[in-house]
Amino acid sequence: MLDLLITHATLPDGRTGMSIAVQDGRIAEVTEGLAAPAHETIDAQGLLVAPHFVDPHFHMDATLSYGLPRVNQSGTLLEGIALWGELKPLLTADALIERALAYCDWAVAKGLLAVRTHVDTSDPSLLAVDALLEVKRQVAPYLDLQLVAFPQDGVLRSPGGVDNIERALDRGVDVVGGIPHFERTMADGAASVKLLCEMAAARGKLVDMHCDESDDPLSRHIETLAFEAQRLGLQGRVTGSHCTSMHSMDNYYVSKLLPLIAQSGVAVIANPLINITLQGRHDTYPKRRGMTRVPELMAAGVNVAFGHDCVMDPWYGMGSGDMLEVAHMGLHVAQMTSQAGIRQCFEAVTTNAARVMHLEGYGLAAGCDASFVLLQARDPVEAIRLRATRLKVFRKGKLLAETPAATASLHLAGRDGATSWMTPQRHG
Ligand code: FE2
Repeated sequence: MLDLLITHATLPDGRTGMSIAVQDGRIAEVTEGLAAPAHETIDAQGLLVAPHFVDPHFHMDATLSYGLPRVNQSGTLLEGIALWGELKPLLTADALIERALAYCDWAVAKGLLAVRTHVDTSDPSLLAVDALLEVKRQVAPYLDLQLVAFPQDGVLRSPGGVDNIERALDRGVDVVGGIPHFERTMADGAASVKLLCEMAAARGKLVDMHCDESDDPLSRHIETLAFEAQRLGLQGRVTGSHCTSMHSMDNYYVSKLLPLIAQSGVAVIANPLINITLQGRHDTYPKRRGMTRVPELMAAGVNVAFGHDCVMDPWYGMGSGDMLEVAHMGLHVAQMTSQAGIRQCFEAVTTNAARVMHLEGYGLAAGCDASFVLLQARDPVEAIRLRATRLKVFRKGKLLAETPAATASLHLAGRDGATSWMTPQRHG
């Protein structure tokens, strides 16, 4: 007797009428039209079942702090950084944990069951590090939280920066972070990349750096990051986050850079909501979009994922933990409106992001964890279009969250009814 059987599911790869058999928290079988006894059977009625969403780039130490101690009046990156500096001395572990746990509730409800969060290591007390390690422990039964040691103020620029990262890693932080474009000089930025990659190699850690988060076409730390990944044998273990300067780089230089990134096995994370909001702010018109070159990176064979980056914090007052909103914005900013492009945007918040995080047991195949989402949509295109309701969220075979279907009751002259904004089924 199976624990759970999903029938009549559509999968992200387009297969329809599929059954997903679940036993002991894992997927036992994915096959067409299976009818087997199960403790619980759910008829998906042709709707999409997808592996859970993954956010590979977030700042959980700042989330839901919007308005503390004041609102970002200009809405710019620089005022956001200044505001975070004002907030940091006021942070308490209890309040930080409470906000992070509240965000994790939002995430689970949206089918987002794995998050890589950067945690600021600039404060030598490592208060935020300890708080998020505690959050990681508390949410472990329902959400995979991966921590990145992130020197927001610059690892070389601030005294004790290197030591703070070392101590954060000693305490159990998973990934080495960095912010080379925020160091004092280009040379210091490159030195920080080398130093941090060597630290990761020596400790067997992954790397994920905020890299070239500016509109400066000459900010080229991604080149150093790719070179160091290759030199140290870290292929597949290094990620460059944001890489917005690539938007503004010279095309000839990019034609040389893309193969280097691909050969070095460095993944790239774009953060569409934040990049389109914060970049190009020194421009008049035309204004640059500022997001990295997503389709070109993908075409070069680079693993590209999308992150949420911020939700209701000093940098960004919007957001609700909805990775479909992230994919929706990514699709628009990158003009990825081809059928293949839309599906790639869906993969950027699911499978590609899972690869960045090295998640084990991820996917919709026999042997994978039974961690998936039933969406009120018939395929990934519709899921993004509607930022579809997550009807049911499962992790390792357990139901974690349910949301009623989005439906409006209509009261129209002579033809009362209902609509859910889903694509009308075409007959004949
Ligand atoms: Fe970030």
